[in-house]
Amino acid sequence: MTQAIKVAVLIGSPRQGSLSERLAAALAALAPPELELRVVPIKDLPLFNPDLDRKDLPPVPAWKEFRDSVRSSDALLFITPEYNRSVPAILKNALEVGSRPYTRQAFSGKPAAIVTQSTGMLGGFGANHHLRQILVFLNAHVLAQPEIYLSQADKLFDAEGALAEGPGKELLTAFLAQFHAFILRHPAPGA
Ligand code: FNR
Repeated sequence: MTQAIKVAVLIGSPRQGSLSERLAAALAALAPPELELRVVPIKDLPLFNPDLDRKDLPPVPAWKEFRDSVRSSDALLFITPEYNRSVPAILKNALEVGSRPYTRQAFSGKPAAIVTQSTGMLGGFGANHHLRQILVFLNAHVLAQPEIYLSQADKLFDAEGALAEGPGKELLTAFLAQFHAFILRHPAPGA
């Protein structure tokens, strides 16, 4: 890979100005220059329905655009809150959309990493591992370590809304370096 590595960022929060969105911006700014983090919007994707996804029908434009964006990326970064001990519906929906057609599913072979966060103490552990399980089935290569469960995520930001100096920022910087090395070791087919 001689060009920038295109990392598709999927944000699991539907909320305007969410912590996940702010983390995505902070990670894009912290990332090594070789990584180009680009958010692929998912919150307005129509709900997946196989009845609308048949070969004899024109493709649903938003689904096609999403699949094309994921397919053309070199790696995937998921940043998500936990909803009821699992992944939020918008993220599960994006996974359904990208997973079809199964023989050309969009996530296959992509190196991937997961960041979960919560304002509570568990840092989205449940969502993180449900997502990991889904991605294993979808044949993505998920970074094992470091695991990123950000608890009390609202405290990661300073009064100006920037990522505060401290252990959180250090952890995320180290995580990005590890993820970069992992992508180079496990390139997506065709990358
Ligand atoms: C939550 N939240 C939450 N937190 C948690 O630690 N475990 C959980 O199971 C849930 N469940 C849950 C369900 C629903 C419907 C909502 C709206 C919220 C809290 C939530 O994950 C937390 O506040 C996140 O930090 C919000 O992230 P965003 O939306 O700011 O990115």
